[in-house]
Amino acid sequence: MSERIPKHVAIIMDGNGRWAERRGHTRVFGHIRGTSKVKSVIREADHLGIKALTLYAFSTENWTRPDGELSVIWKLFIKFLKRDIDELHRNNVRLRVIGEVERLAPAVRAVLDPSIERLSKNTGLQLSFAISYGSRRELARAARLFALDCEKGLRKPEEMNEQVLGEYLWTSVLGELSDVDLVIRTSGEKRISNFLLWQAAYAEFVFLDLCWPDFTPEVLRGALQEYGARERRFGGLIIKGVSS
Ligand code: FPP
Repeated sequence: MSERIPKHVAIIMDGNGRWAERRGHTRVFGHIRGTSKVKSVIREADHLGIKALTLYAFSTENWTRPDGELSVIWKLFIKFLKRDIDELHRNNVRLRVIGEVERLAPAVRAVLDPSIERLSKNTGLQLSFAISYGSRRELARAARLFALDCEKGLRKPEEMNEQVLGEYLWTSVLGELSDVDLVIRTSGEKRISNFLLWQAAYAEFVFLDLCWPDFTPEVLRGALQEYGARERRFGGLIIKGVSS
């Protein structure tokens, strides 16, 4: 494994539906298989020394899916939390959600909120689920919150800069880890789909042809190897030996 481990890895877990349909199953079967892959990937990320892992579980656009599919996704998420929270806690993992958490149903919040609270003192892997997340919405919200702070006299418009904007994003809770080093997307699509547009400004991208239910710890290691072989110049001229 390469010495250059990205600090923050973000994964677009795409292709559950196609994976299932190609095998003659219903789309929800793909979500079931996809969810079953999440734990081993978190564990592997932790073992590899990744500091922050952000998983795109549900976008602002995903609300338009049929009710039946949505209900399965939420049930799977609740089941994951109930079943795996003890292991996450034992491994010192901190859990957060980025996105419109206020849109989630009370039944989801009833499990999610105590889970986040229980892991809130943990100092190991910083795990974030992006749920009801959209980057444009995050940026618009940041602008609105900053304007409100200006109205209240807490900020002045001339104080706005890149660092200040970052403080109003959902990812601000990650502090110096809020910038993403590596974005991985499964399913063969080569798009960012409204995910961490600001935070991934200098990220490397690895697009994989396999669908999320086929993702394994080995696949994660492969993506990290590809990352390790890339040269990150951040717009400058440093070519070798950049440790990130
Ligand atoms: C993308 O596949 C996947 C989703 C929109 C939902 C992902 C949700 C989970 C894996 C369950 C959540 C559980 C946890 C623990 C986070 P797709 O349905 O967009 O696939 P397609 O592009 O082939 O239609």
